[in-house]
This record gives sequence, structure tokens and C-alpha cells, in this order.
Amino acid sequence: MCGIIGYVGEQSALDVTLGGLRRLEYRGYDSAGIAVVGAGALRVVRRAGKLSNLEKALAETDDGAVVGEAMAGTTGMGHTRWATHGGPTDTNAHPHTDCTGAIAVIHNGVIENFTALRSELFGAGHELASETDTEVVAHLLEAELGRPGAGELAALAAAEGGDGGRHPLTEAVRRVCQRLSGSFTLVVLHRDFPDVVVGARRNSPLVVGLGAGETFLASDVAAFIAHTRQALEIGQDQIVEARRDGVRIIDFAGEPVEGRPYHVDWDASAAEKGGYPYFMLKEISEQPAVLADTLRGRLSSDGAIVLDEERLSGEDFRDIDKVFIVACGTAYHAGLIAKYAIEHWTRLPCEVEMASEFRYRDPVLDRSTLVVAISQSGETLDTLMAVKHAREQKARVLAICNTNGSTIPRESDAVLYTRCGPEVGVAATKTFLGQVAACLLVGLFLAQARGILYGDEVGAYVEKLQRMPDLVARTLGTVGPVRELARSLAGARTVLFLGRHVGYPVALEGALKLKELAYMHAEGFPAGELKHGPIALVEQGVPVVVVVPSPRGRAVLHDKVVSNIQEVRARGARTIVIAEEGDHLVEPFADHLIRVPATPSLFAPLVTTIPLQVFACELALARGLDVDQPRNLAKSVTVE
Ligand code: G6P
Repeated sequence: MCGIIGYVGEQSALDVTLGGLRRLEYRGYDSAGIAVVGAGALRVVRRAGKLSNLEKALAETDDGAVVGEAMAGTTGMGHTRWATHGGPTDTNAHPHTDCTGAIAVIHNGVIENFTALRSELFGAGHELASETDTEVVAHLLEAELGRPGAGELAALAAAEGGDGGRHPLTEAVRRVCQRLSGSFTLVVLHRDFPDVVVGARRNSPLVVGLGAGETFLASDVAAFIAHTRQALEIGQDQIVEARRDGVRIIDFAGEPVEGRPYHVDWDASAAEKGGYPYFMLKEISEQPAVLADTLRGRLSSDGAIVLDEERLSGEDFRDIDKVFIVACGTAYHAGLIAKYAIEHWTRLPCEVEMASEFRYRDPVLDRSTLVVAISQSGETLDTLMAVKHAREQKARVLAICNTNGSTIPRESDAVLYTRCGPEVGVAATKTFLGQVAACLLVGLFLAQARGILYGDEVGAYVEKLQRMPDLVARTLGTVGPVRELARSLAGARTVLFLGRHVGYPVALEGALKLKELAYMHAEGFPAGELKHGPIALVEQGVPVVVVVPSPRGRAVLHDKVVSNIQEVRARGARTIVIAEEGDHLVEPFADHLIRVPATPSLFAPLVTTIPLQVFACELALARGLDVDQPRNLAKSVTVE
């Protein structure tokens, strides 16, 4: 949510920041803006709407000069916005400046006490132009830097460039941060300090990219991956002063701290479309490889499941008597699937909860509770706050995450990375499959740690799981008719999705994908619940997608779902049935039959989800919509 890039180096700051924003646009696309410091000036250009509007503005001529060409300089920053405070207008677009136009600020997050700060600033004679919470920061910095009698700052300014001196801009940012509440990543530039960019973070993402003679600050590594793969994690409540030759980091109290260096294990091509017209199509097609990566090397030579980070002992895991899963959106659906596996394999009670609800209802947690937090980005604020709450209550936290160096894994006791590579399409696809596979591994890990499953039993499950990438590839190879069907339904008003057992979360995910991408009314229901209300929605021609359980694994359930299909069909529904190969019982009741390969019951979501992703994507395309950047959404939601 909101993409941020800051740059200090030797290249054109405009080119670098624009390139970074192109890779960050999935984080928000309500407006975009850029600021560059050079030749004694700070220049800012910002526009409402997608990045292409900003690019057009930069190509326009003003006073005989091309706007972008006038933005010469090798220090700059850029922002792509997902609006929270103030609509998506030019005036509310970032960067925001102070009264003098010397300071520019970009921000991701929400400054919760901005109303009080605004009043204070108005009282002191500042003029604020926008409706944003962000703008107060530029004016607070102005007040800090220009405060009469700020002798300390002046002394620090004199030390600028010296080894020991803290830069005055850094010090001003530190003081301002102490006054802010809420969540924020800030990046700040000053006209008179062209050699530094200062960043700060609290509960919102910020990573450093360390290049040769250049340094980047960004919301995520995608912004600078074309320039360097050397990254540095910045902790909570820390400030980073970036210069060409590296960074200095302090905490909000002013104490020096170290960042954790890491190497990004994917390259720029992973974040390109690779010949596909949309990232989403590419990401759907990558799923067999992604699943194989998630599963690779998970079994040690002695038959134990291997997590990526484990700061808990075997005894800690044995002592667990209850599991909570917290997540949002698609990750929440992965969690719903995990519940079936965890309860079945571990015999532990497992509750799944939307992270945004979790901490506010005061859940019963103690040191024998395991909270599993699932998050692609590792930055979703609702999930992060749930994790923090759990840890305050002494619960153990295990994170399932796709993003190395992100906050949720850092705040957790154990981590399993999904290794899906960057996902740029806003609606999650490949990372959902990665999350489901990771959840299954966590279920096996817990069952093994608790002595419920033996090594050979776990090994047998893992072996079956490792066959899944081939089955996913087979499923992708047979979805052609799904595309045709989706196109034929482009005019539908509503689509219902039914499922049972692990097919129920798949139905929810199918409906969510359709809402997100095609802006259609879609709802997922447990098929058994249909008769208790939702069946009233069925009328002549309404498409109803039914995810049918295997007739082998759960025969009783299978027969009940076949009855459910007949019930909706009798009321005029157009039935779209997703069923295992060889399941002939469904044939008479399916207006459209989509086949998926046979799998163990708990693994079925790894294949049944695929036609639903393709269905939603194709239907949205048939309606002429942008499937990579659906309206009003953002990929990484860093506000509560
Ligand atoms: C946003 C995205 C969803 C995503 C959810 C959770 O709402 O639009 O696609 O599932 O956040 O994101 P996370 O990064 O925590 O998995």
C-alpha cells in the first residue's frame, strides 16, 4: 500500500525513481509523484491517477522546457499512492512540501494524530494545502530545522560530512518521528542537503538497497532489483540516513543500530511480464514451478520437516495445545484450508480468524498457543498487529510468508517462506498455492513435533505433495474451455460458488477473485448451508460453480454435493461443476464440466483453485478490465 523509492547515487534520479515506481505501482495507483534535488533546487511533479499520468506530465513543456528534463539531479524519490486521507487528486498526491518548498516528504501508512498536529501547525502560521495526514510531516520538519535557537541542530549541521556528526535532517526526522503516532514509512529530501536521503519506519515497510556508489530506500526490493541485489533490513522505529557510499541507522532514541544484510535471490526478470500481456497470466502459469520451489528441500535426511527459521525448541512445539491462524484476504482462505489439515493431522483445535478482528476481541492466548500468521507481503498491518498482540500474550508465532526481510517474519518465532518469487498482479494467485502448500507442511511439522505422525508417514505425505506440481501443470493444460465459458458469462450479474470441506475455502477464493477482478457480485458458500438461505438467490440462468469433493476420499460428502448440484439446477441455475477425473456421477447434472486430476483430499485445493483463477481472470478481461491493477485495491495493505 503506497510504493516508495528514495535514491542517492550517480545516475539520473528521475530515471531511477520512475523505473522503481513502475515496479511498485501494484502497491497503489491512485496518484504518483517524484521529487529531485539538484543544482540548488528541489523540484516536485505529481499527478492524480496512474503512473502514466505522471509520465505524461514529465513529457509536457513548461516555459519552453520539457518538465522532466528540468529535473536534473542524482538524488530523488518517488511515490505511488493508495489514498487514505484525502481523495486521489493532484494536491493530495505525494511528495508533500513545507511552506518554503525546501523539504519534500513521501509517506506510506497513517499518521493517527495528524488532526492535532495540523491544528498546531495552523496555529503556528503554517499553510497546509492538502487533506493528507502526510503533509504535517513536511511542516513539522520545517519547524524543527528552522526553529529559532536550535543551536544543537546548527552544530550538527556544521558537522555535516564529518564522520561523527549526525546529519541535521536525520536529527530533525528523528525528533518528528517521536511526535507521530500510527504507522509510517517516511522518506525525506531537503533542497540544501543534496547528498542525503533520510528514511524512517514504524510498522510499515522500508528496505535499503546497497549498490556501487548508490543507495536506495524502498517499500520493497522490486524497486531497486534492476540495480542491486544487496539489501539491508531496517528494524521497527529506526531511521536510516542514506548516502552514495552507504547508510547509517539509528533508532528513534538516537542510538546507532545495525541493519541485517541479505541477498535477494531473484532477479529483475522475475518481476517482468516475460511475454505475457498481464502479470496475472504469467503468475498463474508459473504455479507448477512455484509449488515445486515451495516444497523443495523440506524433508531433512532424518525425515524431519524443515522450516526456514526456527527460534523455538522441540519442547515448545510439543507443549502447544491450540492453534490460531490469522490472515487477510486470499491468505485467510489458505488458512481455512490449513485448519482441515492441522486438525486432522495434529488433533489440536485450530481456529482461523481474519487478522483485523483477532486482537480486538481479546482472544484467549498463552504460551502454549501457536499463532500461525499467513501473509504474502509480510507487511499487512492487520496481520502484523495480530502477531504483536499474540506475542504480548506470550503466544508463539509461526509466519508463512513470501517476502524475505519483511516485518511479520522478523516478529515471529519461526518462519516458513513460500518462495514464490515476486507477485505483481494485485490479486494473489501463485502465492495462494504457495501458502496452501506451506500450510500443509506446517500441519505435518506440528504432527511430527507432537509425535502424532512418524517420520515415514510424514515422508509419504511429502512425497505425494511433491507430485502436485505435475498435477497443477496438467490442470493448467486443460483450462482452455474455462476461458470460453468465462467469456460467455461476461454479462452475468452474479455468480455463486459452492464447496464443502476444503472445497469451501476454494469456493470463497473463487468468489473473491471474481469480485476483485471482474467487479461482479460473487459469493462463496458451504454447499450444505445452501438450503438455509442462499438458495433464495438462485433463479433462472444464475451461474453456480460447484467444487465437488473426491468420490474416493470423502464419499459421503461427494454424494451430498451431487444432491446440492441437483437442488440448484432444479431451480434454474446454470451449473459449472469442477470434479475429479473419472467422477461420472456428476455428469448428468453439469451444464459445464471442468475436470481436475485426482489428488489426496487435503491437497485438492492445489488443483481446484486453478480453473477458478483462470475463470475470474478471463471474465474480467472479457469485460475490458485491467486484471493486474483492479480498482480501489492495493497489493500490500499497510494501514488498518
Ligand atoms: C490485500 C490484497 C489481497 C491479499 C491481502 C493479504 O487485500 O489485495 O490479495 O490477499 O491483502 O495480503 P498478504 O500480503 O498479507 O498476504
